[in-house]
Amino acid sequence: MANVTVIGSQWGDEGKGKIVDWLSSRADVVVRFQGGHNAGHTLVIDGKTYKLHLLPSGIVRKGKKSVIGNGVVVDPWALMKEIEDVRGQGVDITPANFFVSENANLILPVHGAVDRALEAARGKGQIGTTGRGIGPAYEDKVARRGIRVCDLLHPDLLKEKIERLLIHHNALLKGLGAETFNMRHIFDSLMQINGALLQYAGPVWKKLDEWQRQGEKILFEGAQGTMLDVDHGTYPFVTSSNTVAAQAAAGSGVGPRATGYVLGITKAYTTRVGAGPFPSEQSNDIGETLGRVGHEFGTTTGRKRRCGWFDSALVRQSVKISGIEGIALTKLDVLDGFDEIKICTGYRVDGQILDHLPASQTHQATAEAVYEGMEGWQESTRGARSWADLPAAAIKYVRRIEELIEAPVALLSTSPEREDTILVRDPFQNS
Ligand code: GDP
Ligand code: IMO
Ligand code: MG
Repeated sequence: MANVTVIGSQWGDEGKGKIVDWLSSRADVVVRFQGGHNAGHTLVIDGKTYKLHLLPSGIVRKGKKSVIGNGVVVDPWALMKEIEDVRGQGVDITPANFFVSENANLILPVHGAVDRALEAARGKGQIGTTGRGIGPAYEDKVARRGIRVCDLLHPDLLKEKIERLLIHHNALLKGLGAETFNMRHIFDSLMQINGALLQYAGPVWKKLDEWQRQGEKILFEGAQGTMLDVDHGTYPFVTSSNTVAAQAAAGSGVGPRATGYVLGITKAYTTRVGAGPFPSEQSNDIGETLGRVGHEFGTTTGRKRRCGWFDSALVRQSVKISGIEGIALTKLDVLDGFDEIKICTGYRVDGQILDHLPASQTHQATAEAVYEGMEGWQESTRGARSWADLPAAAIKYVRRIEELIEAPVALLSTSPEREDTILVRDPFQNS
């Protein structure tokens, strides 16, 4: 087995896009298996920037196949727009290199409206969702009233399904004082787009099986991060899907042993967009500096990301929960120039020191970070392409992280550019 699963080990935006793009030169197929266009994955190739939301990050490489698995929630309009935008950047996207699972659930305009109306109604208790309808679409899927890609083949059944779905959502929207939706309108807009979407649709699980039997290598591309997982994350301040590595199998239709080596993408400090606990957050000059130097603004919503020190307890938790075998440590360069760098090693909760973040929302909200300090470095690591280019203090920091999280560094990233990446051990050779 030579497959690799890439997931985020923090709260998203760890640099998954960059690493998936880099690794995709070694793969034949790249598969998204959860999330939707709440994701924002940035690739920088020879100075040219690509921002991907639904399209797998392998799409920019010629000769690679890109797949949207059944676990993804697909907004067909967002997908078509993204295809047009990325095509405009010179990328080829055809039914020969892009595939969408026929049993993926759709995000409809009503889902976005419900998402935003519910957020507004939450007042102070807002989650800070991306407003893309992700939560309501996953709710519909589990409630068995979702509309799937394959439903576009059958207009009569589709009408019935939309009708049924609107009984639920219109009652809710009305109660929240928001505008309701009309079946005919949704149906007509879907009929306008169905041909464009259906040309890519099919039994993805079957293709993945065929390709694997032909010896092709698959790279599974996670979205969000382990701490945004609906089970294991900082609930309720999470997204509505499982973001852990195990989801790669269920969300694409391969067996649990097919997902291969688990690579956790890990930022050298911590960020989070939206509300929720963040024990090592620095609401001060340090956080401002990290945000400014790291350009920490959301790829999807443009929101300012909250910033703080590296949280090793949190990442160690992700290592265990997702079975992370090695990490890609990203954005080390952002830490250049600090006199002292801190690492969170645990939490003080109710007067006790814990080495993990407990599940209780109250405990998470009151958990205080416990730190150890390390000497910083003044030299620039930006663009470093070998260990030899790194100052001793930076190497010491990386080694300490490995020790604390109980996983080795497989890749090290030192700038947004594809080639500014240090390979320590090849994930495709380790699976
Ligand atoms: P993703 O959601 O995990 O794919 O991450 P995003 O693309 O949302 O955010 C990561 C940001 O950091 C992007 O703007 C990347 O171009 C940038 N980035 C990735 N790796 C590095 C790195 O090693 N150094 C710096 N300075 N920027 C990086
Ligand atoms: P990538 O793949 C960072 C966050 C939102 C919000 C919570 C729920 O780029 O790492 P949702 O719209 O999913 O219901 O929002 O999850 N969130 C992300 N944060 N990176 C992401 O994706 C995210 N996708 C969702 O900010 O707090
Ligand atoms: Mg992102």
